[in-house]
Order: sequence, then C-alpha cells, then structure tokens
Amino acid sequence: MTRPATGTPLSRVDGRLKVTGQATYAAEHRADGTVHGVIVTSTVGKGRITAIDTRQAAAQPGVLTVISHLNAPKLPYRPFRGVTDPPRGEHLRVFQDDRVRFFGQPVAVAVAETLEAAQHAASLVKVAYAAERPATDLSSPAGEPNEPENYQRGDADQALRQAHTRIEQTYRLQREHHNPMEPHATIARWDGDRLTVWDKTQMVLNTRAALASVFGIPEDGVRVISPFVGGAFGSGLRAWPHVTVAALAARQVRRPVKVVLTREQMYSGTGFRPVTEYKLTMGADQRGRLTAAVHDIRAETSTYEDYREALTILGQMTYTTPNVRQTYRSIPLDISTPTWMRGPGNATAAFAIECAMDELAHEAGIDPIELRLRNEPEQDPGTGAPFSTRRLRECFRVGARTIGWDDRNPKPRSTRDGDWLIGTGVAVAAYHTGRAPAQALARLTEDGTATVQSATSDMGPGTYTSMTQVAADALGLPVSRVRFQLGDSTMPPAPPHGGSMTMASVGSAVADTCDKLRRQATDLAIDDPGSPLHGASADDVVADNGRLHLRDDPGRGETYQQLLARIGRPHLEARGGYTPGDEVERLSTHAYGAVFAEIAVDERLGLVRIRRVLGVYDAGRIINPKLAHSQAIGGLVGGIGMALLEHTVADPRDGRLVNANLADYLVPTNADVPDVNAVYLDGEDRQADPIGVKGLAEVVIVGVAPAIANAVFHATGRRVRDLPITIEALL
Ligand code: MOS
Repeated sequence: MTRPATGTPLSRVDGRLKVTGQATYAAEHRADGTVHGVIVTSTVGKGRITAIDTRQAAAQPGVLTVISHLNAPKLPYRPFRGVTDPPRGEHLRVFQDDRVRFFGQPVAVAVAETLEAAQHAASLVKVAYAAERPATDLSSPAGEPNEPENYQRGDADQALRQAHTRIEQTYRLQREHHNPMEPHATIARWDGDRLTVWDKTQMVLNTRAALASVFGIPEDGVRVISPFVGGAFGSGLRAWPHVTVAALAARQVRRPVKVVLTREQMYSGTGFRPVTEYKLTMGADQRGRLTAAVHDIRAETSTYEDYREALTILGQMTYTTPNVRQTYRSIPLDISTPTWMRGPGNATAAFAIECAMDELAHEAGIDPIELRLRNEPEQDPGTGAPFSTRRLRECFRVGARTIGWDDRNPKPRSTRDGDWLIGTGVAVAAYHTGRAPAQALARLTEDGTATVQSATSDMGPGTYTSMTQVAADALGLPVSRVRFQLGDSTMPPAPPHGGSMTMASVGSAVADTCDKLRRQATDLAIDDPGSPLHGASADDVVADNGRLHLRDDPGRGETYQQLLARIGRPHLEARGGYTPGDEVERLSTHAYGAVFAEIAVDERLGLVRIRRVLGVYDAGRIINPKLAHSQAIGGLVGGIGMALLEHTVADPRDGRLVNANLADYLVPTNADVPDVNAVYLDGEDRQADPIGVKGLAEVVIVGVAPAIANAVFHATGRRVRDLPITIEALL
C-alpha cells in the first residue's frame, strides 16, 4: 500500500498560485464594468450628523453618486442573527439614520469610475456633526453593564477565607486588531434582483445570509464567492458594514461596485479583541492545591451589540478547584463591536489565570510546573465530564526537558548575561475542540481524478491542502489527482472557518463523503460481471493509488478509470457529511499545550527580547505536520505580539484610534522572533471526531503572553499585569 497522504508534510497545494499572484483575493476578482466605492467615515466618536454637503464631490469627473443616509433607500434589515453575531443587539444599519455610534463609522460612500476619482470625491464630502464626548474606556462606560454571565460551584468566598495562600490581582489586556495582510474588500454585482458578491470572509454562508437579510431577498438569490483569504484571524467571521455598502452602492449605480477598506478603515470597520479587565482571587492550601477562585471579568462591547466571548471556560476547567465563582460583564462603550480574534476568550483568560498561578507558585515556594501538576484534574472540573484526551502532563514533561527547566534557578533576578537579565516562564494553553455540522460533495471522473467541495474557507491554515490529503486517503488516490474546492456559497454547507473547528468538522465531512464515493465505486465493481472484483465482499476491497483491489490479493483489482470506462459512466458523485453526536456533551474535549518562554530584559533600558518560545501541544491527530508547524509558529508569534507590542489606542476626546496603521500599531517582525518552536505529541483523539483531530488554530496563541510575562518576572522580579509589557513598565 502507498503511504497515506495524511500525516505527511505536503506543501500547500495552492502555494504556487499564491506566490505567482494567480490566487485571486477579494479585491482582485474581475467583474465587467466594475466601479469603485470609497467610504467616508465619521470624524467624531458620538453624536448626530447635522448636514452632509456632497455637491463638490458629486461634481467631480467620473463620479457616479455619493450615497449617505440623506439619499439611501430604506433597507429591510430583516431580523437575522448569524452564528458569528453577538447574541444580543442590533446590527449597525448602514446609512439608515443620522446617528454616529463610534469614530470611523461609515457615513457616506463616493462611487466613481476609477479608484482615484472615488478617493478624491470621498475627500470632498463635507459632513457636519453635533458631537458628544464618547465613552471609550471601561472606567466610564456609555451605559449600564449588560446582564452578567455568572457561574458558581461550591462556596468560593468561604473557601478563600480559609485559604493558606491567597492571590488577589487584576490583569488588563488592551484592544488588539487582527491586521491581516489582505485588506477587507467586497465586490458586489446585481443581476436583476440576484446578488453576486466576491468577499473576504471566513464564512461565505454567513455573508450570504447577512446580505439576504439586509436587502430582504431570499438567500438563494445571493451568491458569495471567496476562494482565497489573505489572513483574517476572526475578522472575516462577520459581514461588516462595508459589505452592505458595496451591495447598496452597486444597486444604486446598476454597476458592480468594489469597496476596499484602507488599513485605517479596518480598525473601526471590522472587529477587534476587546479590552478586558480580569480580577482574579485564588486561594490554595499548604500543599498548593487550589481551594477557591473568584473571577470578576469586565470587557468592552459596543452600545448596539453585546459581544461576548468564552472568557469563563478556562476558569472552570483548567484546574481542580472545588469552589469557583465567576462574573463576566460586558460594558457598553461608544466603539464599534468587538469580535473573535485568534484564541478568543481563552487567550485573554489564560493571561490572568496563568500569571496568577505563577504568582501563587512564587508565594507558596512551589515550582510553577509542579504547582500545576498538583492541580491537574482527572475529569473536567466544570462539567464533571470525562476528558476525551488530556495529556498536559506529557506536554510539560516534553517541554521541560527540551527547554532545560530543571536547570533554572527559580529565584527571580538570579540569572544574568551581561546587561541582560534572563528569565524563563511557563503557562498552560487549552482550547475547546469545536465541531459543527458540515457537508461535502465529491466527484470521481473517468480520467481518474477527483474533485471535492465544501463551502468552507482557507484563511491561511492550509484547508485546501489538508482536505486534499484527507480526501486522497479516503479515495485511495494520490494527492496530485485530488482537487479540493471551497469558498463558494453554492457548495455544500460548512460551519464558520473559525473556532479551530474546520479540520474536525469539514475534515470529517470530507472523509465521510469520500468514503461513500469509494464504496460506491467498490459496489459497482463488485456487481459488475466484467470486473475482476466481481462477487467480492466490499469489506475485502481497498483503494490504493487510484486502484481498487482485494486487500489480501492485490493482483485482483482494477483502476477507477477502467471501472468507469467499462460501465460507461463519465463520473461518480457522492454527498456526505458530519454531524457531531452526543460526545460533544458527554466528553470534555480540548486541545492542550504547555508554553515555555525564555526572555532577556535589558536592566537599564527595559527592553524585552525573546530568546526562545516553545509550545508543546496535545492537539490530536496531525493531518499535515508542515502546516501544523506553520500554524503554531503563527500563533506563537501572535502571542509575542500580544505580550509585548499590540495595543490599539483610542483618543479619549473623540474616540479616534490614534495608531490605526501598521507603522504605529506594532506587531512582531523577524527580529522580534529569534527561536520559536512547536512540538505536537503523537496521537489522535478518535472520541473527539471521526478523524481524530482536536483543532490547532487557537490553542497555539493561548498561554504565550502569560509565559512571557512570567519569564519577565523571573528575569526581573517585576510583575507586569497589564499587556502589552512595555519598556515603561520595566524602567
Ligand atoms: Mo478564529 S478567532 O475563530 O478566526
């Protein structure tokens, strides 16, 4: 038998298209007669539009129209809540009234024959406001906190009073923006009342549903196409206002309209990781076993939507803690709505919990890894459910050995290298294995190739490649003869390409679909008197390298091509899918990791330099080690950004985001990332899903920031509880 494709480090099947510029990103699609829309955004953070003067803008050569709430048609905005929408609130309705809810809100769009003409026209639109001072800070909200989310087990307050060791601290995380390389962009074209949209999105079906609701048309009247996404990290999970702007403008001018957000517009035009304040009180007994934890969490949301993320899960399930109380409040501010950003909820919660564990370890005089092992649960402490797999101890063992943890002098400020203080830190990572129903379609053609489709997305993890591998193995074809297609709403439905659920959900659907297709071919051969396999039992037939044969007698068989040619079928087709079962409730299923950081701090300059970051992961089966490694490196680098650099700053006077560009919003570059590595434990989790994966995307950013913060403490003796850790904090 040929070696299976899964488990091999296949290079990206779409790599050549990408490096040769042939992969079409959202703004690069061509629709005949496309014109350009440039959005005008509000220059106040709250208030009302009192006047819009578009005369000069509209008079420019090549300008087709300028649309604002003054002349925009009333849009139906049929009730719609997408799977990626906040649970409560109202969508921002584009150009439907004079209210300004945040700085950078779309207030008009200039549409012109060329991009330059549209940009010029947009710059000439004069908007007058009755401005109010916006609330942009958690300390002075725009309104009452939303209904809190509460969790309780045992009596945390009582247990805290009796605790031997107690830590009570507040950890703060700043706003972060996804900043994918590809800008958010949409091209919209109407053919009568049918709408076609080329969009940057992580879920074509969500964009389709959102547009159908906005325009009050049936979903099957909308087609969304998105074959390539140049990074997204969660920012492509919703259809943001500019998607509606493009479709609305296209309807008004009866031409296809392209809208591309500038880098600056992206900061208020899409979501972001919300500012979060996480107060954590933890108590432990003499031996360092946690007895109680109280989590008091506050995070920002907009005034019009109540965005929440899974901030409470880690506090419930990471450690055995008999007594836990949690309160999570979202606080309305005059800002645009936050959204999921890589590792949503967990990356934030882990910063608080894993720093607090380090503080506790220091206080109790217990090694930070040992402290965690003493609190390692046997089943999920939150739900009581058994773990499908949880190999955190092994992650620690492998990581500690690789990084030389036992050689470290645990005393803070004890290790030096010239001007540099050296520190190592550790933290736990975990992320829920999300699974959702998914479907696929597979077609085997007479030339012996197969095409498999699902309406999923590939924002960078390598979905095209990993799905090709899964399909190739299920069909018994070499990967070179399998093509996977995605990113079109006419394909079989898939869940959001987010929450680390694509491989488990779509991968399982692809495996099922291709199994069905292989069985179909097998049955046809068995039933056909002309086939060498005639009369065999289906269970004895395997497919390998495009050929069906008896497992125990490989000489007896035929290729797919021979079969199809003889029976006179140009192709075979199968539909299949995956629906998660009750294992989702019955079992606690997460990917885990132990993250280690070694850093150096210049004692006099306060500079933090990363020396090493290592993540050791229990993430189930690895379909493609090369992609998985790339995925992990990306997450670890994102974590370095979170720890040391990323921070979107709002001007409190008007809500303007002062660093809404890639010069002032800092992200790690190569020089910031010298030696970063990831290791995956061998294994699989067949209880999690049929293909045994646990999801990689999110877990690899979780735990990085606290590992670095803990290393900074070890190096300097200084505990920094606010991210990012800046030079000022260390001087
Ligand atoms: Mo991820 S935040 O679910 O794109």
